[in-house]
Amino acid sequence: MSNKLLSALFGATFAVLAFSPTAFAEPQVLADFHAEMGECESCHANGEPSADSAYENEQCQSCHGSLAEMSETHKAHDGMLNCSDCHVVHEMNVGDKPTCDNCHDDGRK
Ligand code: HEC
Ligand code: HEC
Ligand code: HEC
Ligand code: HEC
Repeated sequence: MSNKLLSALFGATFAVLAFSPTAFAEPQVLADFHAEMGECESCHANGEPSADSAYENEQCQSCHGSLAEMSETHKAHDGMLNCSDCHVVHEMNVGDKPTCDNCHDDGRK
């Protein structure tokens, strides 16, 4: 596990301990969940979104690893998709799983 991910995990644990014990009772938008650990700058250079999301997708990988290093679903899309094609962090909540039928119409899961 990368040092960046470890320190973010530490930050997340601290945030949960420091704030409300019911922090996870309400659905929470993924970007806000991440921002609690490291501010908007954890994904955006100087907090400003880039035009093509390339910088942001590099940040995901610097903490989580690349598609090739993740689950089978992720491996299947190595070299084809960016994290943000499936994980829409400003709209989806923690715990939401991206669905397949946005892009595949053959019922795969
Ligand atoms: C987990 C990474 C992540 C964090 C943290 C994050 N963003 Fe984003 N943001 C993205 C990505 C990726 C996009 C590209 C559009 C998309 O996929 O939703 C984006 C897009 C945006 C946009 C462009 C508008 C849009 O929806 O296309 C704005 C403005 C923005 N973010 C502001 C913020 C602010 C302010 C914060 C801190 C509260 C923040 N972001 C935290 C990843 C993140
Ligand atoms: C094809 C759509 C898709 C793409 C692209 C994708 N994901 Fe996922 N992700 C999923 C699905 C579906 C799950 C639910 C669990 C599973 O199937 O692995 C998930 C789960 C996750 C999880 C939580 C579970 C875990 O494995 O720890 C993380 C973190 C994650 N993805 C990060 C990423 C990152 C980082 C990228 C880019 C390098 C990425 N994802 C790209 C679909 C996608
Ligand atoms: C600074 C490090 C960092 C960055 C950058 C980052 N993440 Fe995360 N992310 C974490 C940590 C820590 C967790 C909580 C532990 C875990 O699930 O791995 C997490 C959790 C997640 C989860 C699982 C949430 C759930 O449902 O349980 C997804 C999905 C995810 N991140 C996607 C992304 C995507 C997409 C990006 C880029 C747009 C991104 N992350 C950028 C550190 C990061
Ligand atoms: C954002 C669009 C998108 C989403 C969402 C998505 N995929 Fe894909 N997937 C693609 C593209 C593009 C390809 C490459 C072209 C192809 O094979 O259809 C691909 C290829 C694949 C492949 C390898 C090629 C094949 O046909 O065997 C598998 C397996 C796969 N996807 C499974 C899934 C599963 C399972 C999900 C849901 C968790 C999912 N995909 C969600 C866009 C997506």
